[in-house]
Amino acid sequence: MKHVLVTGGAGFIGANFVRYLLQVEPQVHIYNLDALTYAGSLENLKNLPDESRHTFVQGDICDNDLVMHLLREHEIDTVVHFAAESHVDRSIHGPAAFVQTNIVGTFTLLDAAKTVWKETGGFAGRRFHHVSTDEVFGSLAPDDPAFTETTPYDPRSPYSASKAASDHLVRAYFHTYGLPVTLTNCSNNYGPYQFPEKLIPLMVLNAVQGKPLPVYGDGKQIRDWLYVEDHCEAIYQVLKQGKIGETYNVGGGNQPYNIEIVREICAILDELHPQGAPHDRLITYVQDRPGHDRRYAMDTTKIQAELGWAPRHDLKSGLRATVQWYLEHPEWVQSVLQQEGYAAWLERNYAKR
Ligand code: NAD
Ligand code: TYD
Repeated sequence: MKHVLVTGGAGFIGANFVRYLLQVEPQVHIYNLDALTYAGSLENLKNLPDESRHTFVQGDICDNDLVMHLLREHEIDTVVHFAAESHVDRSIHGPAAFVQTNIVGTFTLLDAAKTVWKETGGFAGRRFHHVSTDEVFGSLAPDDPAFTETTPYDPRSPYSASKAASDHLVRAYFHTYGLPVTLTNCSNNYGPYQFPEKLIPLMVLNAVQGKPLPVYGDGKQIRDWLYVEDHCEAIYQVLKQGKIGETYNVGGGNQPYNIEIVREICAILDELHPQGAPHDRLITYVQDRPGHDRRYAMDTTKIQAELGWAPRHDLKSGLRATVQWYLEHPEWVQSVLQQEGYAAWLERNYAKR
């Protein structure tokens, strides 16, 4: 791994991964291709561990000429593909962007990598890593076993359907053309730099502002939460040791109800930000998300056994570190809250619930 193309590296997980990789791989140069949609920001890339080994390129993963040029010009040996439309609620309001970026964009990258790598020495020593989600597996009943790598796909939202399609394309390029791919399907991430449309940062920022904390339905949906740095480490282990053509499930191994997460955030804020306590008075049950998946759970036996990966952060300490990060980064928070379109999104998603 010398010249790495990271897509979506100005978004939440991508930016955390750029930081992580610059730290653990002192020789690597990262080319970071990101369109800077509402979800991406150069604020997420300030104060990188080593700026000189990071080159930011603003552009679209659907732009075939640009992607081919980057792969050739910078002799990219490794692609780590994060770029996506990633929010389920937005996929309900506007699915077209999800089809475009998640499906067409992934196809564009795969095809460009196949073409350029074939022309320039072949596939040996090269790798295309695709970052995907547990949501492709659908929704679990309370007593169902956790998802494994062989659980059949059953996506139920435009977001998860578009990610499922992208996963299928990645595997098709491996089986049909021999493109050296690996995949990770990961559960819900949380941590620094997450855009406050997702549950945890939305609740933290709303609570600090004394705004209602909108819990969908009965709040008893279950997610398997993973601290973002643990996800970055899992991807890194797959890049280093993962077998070509293989998929690895990644998750935090916990099963809280959403309402428990929200209550825990309130309790942490009562301690760290006592103005406005008790924050749980702001909890407001609102109309559920259509087609809302009830439960996700990941079986991570394979990555633990084959690659020795396990999460380092438990949910309690990870949540505390996350709340603290948002409290300690008011400039970042302000830049996001003032972003054009954010207030309109809140209005669109929450006003009529
Ligand atoms: P995010 O929405 O925070 O960031 C996505 C990034 O992709 C943004 O920087 C955006 O500007 C960029 N982007 C969007 N469309 C683009 C395009 N057409 N061309 C170039 N760049 C584009 O997402 P995230 O939460 O960081 O998720 C990253 C990846 O991880 C996604 O593929 C997502 O499906 C997957 N994933 C996320 C989670 C999670 O909990 N957030 C869990 C598992 C898997
Ligand atoms: P989210 O962070 O959007 O991730 P995903 O839908 O990909 O799992 O939501 C996490 C859970 O929190 C999900 O069950 C929906 C719920 N939720 C709320 O109850 N209220 C909210 O305002 C949001 C954004 C999510």
